Amino acid sequence: MTLCSAVTLAYFSPTGTTRAVLEALAEPLASIEVRHIDLTLPGAETQKLPELESNLVLLGVPVYAGRVPETAVRRLRRLSGHGAPAVLVVVYGNRAFEDALVELSDIARERGFVPIAGAAFIGEHSYSTPATLIAAGRPDVADLARARVLGQTVRDRLAEVADLASMQPLQLPGNRPYRQGMSPSEVAPETDRGLCTLCEACARVCPVAAITVGDRVLTDGAACILCCACVKACPTGARTMADPGVRHTAHWLATEHGARKEAEIFISEVRG
Ligand SMILES: Cc1cc2nc3c(=O)[nH]c(=O)nc-3n(C[C@H](O)[C@H](O)[C@H](O)COP(=O)(O)O)c2cc1C
Ligand code: SF4
Ligand code: SF4
Repeated sequence: MTLCSAVTLAYFSPTGTTRAVLEALAEPLASIEVRHIDLTLPGAETQKLPELESNLVLLGVPVYAGRVPETAVRRLRRLSGHGAPAVLVVVYGNRAFEDALVELSDIARERGFVPIAGAAFIGEHSYSTPATLIAAGRPDVADLARARVLGQTVRDRLAEVADLASMQPLQLPGNRPYRQGMSPSEVAPETDRGLCTLCEACARVCPVAAITVGDRVLTDGAACILCCACVKACPTGARTMADPGVRHTAHWLATEHGARKEAEIFISEVRG
């Protein structure tokens, strides 16, 4: 089939690893127009989203507790695929992606996309810090090269078939019903007032508008999704995820899941 008129990257990516993988994946497709739908910030709940008909769509989310983050689910459900082919990408912090890829596939189908490929890549864990490194620097050069190869494979596969009906349904690992996702909590990063310059960088990157900056930084713990975007964006180191439970989890991840994992790729075969 003729390659779609544009490639659209639609992603939720608080700390940027998911976005980096999608951008590499799109590189071999750059002969056609590349568009972004960034679903990360709160505006994605209400902003008008473009129609995606005759686009190739790359859908990307991080894995939270083996699932698609609830905030991302809500925003992805605002997209309409109108039969557009979709490449599904989940990015996880070197522990496991569990049911996230099948869940993303279910959401994509429900919204009218036709999944033709799926992938699980590794990204630096949101809880990684200089003192407790977890998948630090991922996606790295090798990961991004792998994403480019996937982009080329998708391009070649689409060129090979007359239409999407000529491709077999995409098979992905994962279970239905999905595993239990994140439990509600009041945990959130803390701010060291001595280091804070009230610059508001943290508030600007928060996906759920949980941060208010006045004469000090206030955080709505019930709204916080623990994404760590504010921690990584803080220019002075004032913002830290100091919660003992999260630090304990981070140490466990660094110890038990320190061995490098590699990306896994799944692609629809052409019907014989
Ligand atoms: C609340 C939360 C839960 C997470 N759960 C998992 C998980 O179940 N498995 C895993 O390997 N990584 C997990 N991670 C790590 C992220 O999937 C990983 O860091 C990803 O690269 C973040 O994507 P982003 O940079 O696009 O925000 C979790 C991160 C957060 C914040
Ligand atoms: S980004 Fe850091 S320094 Fe700036 S307001 Fe937030 S906590 Fe304070
Ligand atoms: S306050 Fe919570 S949800 Fe907002 S950026 Fe920080 S960690 Fe993420």
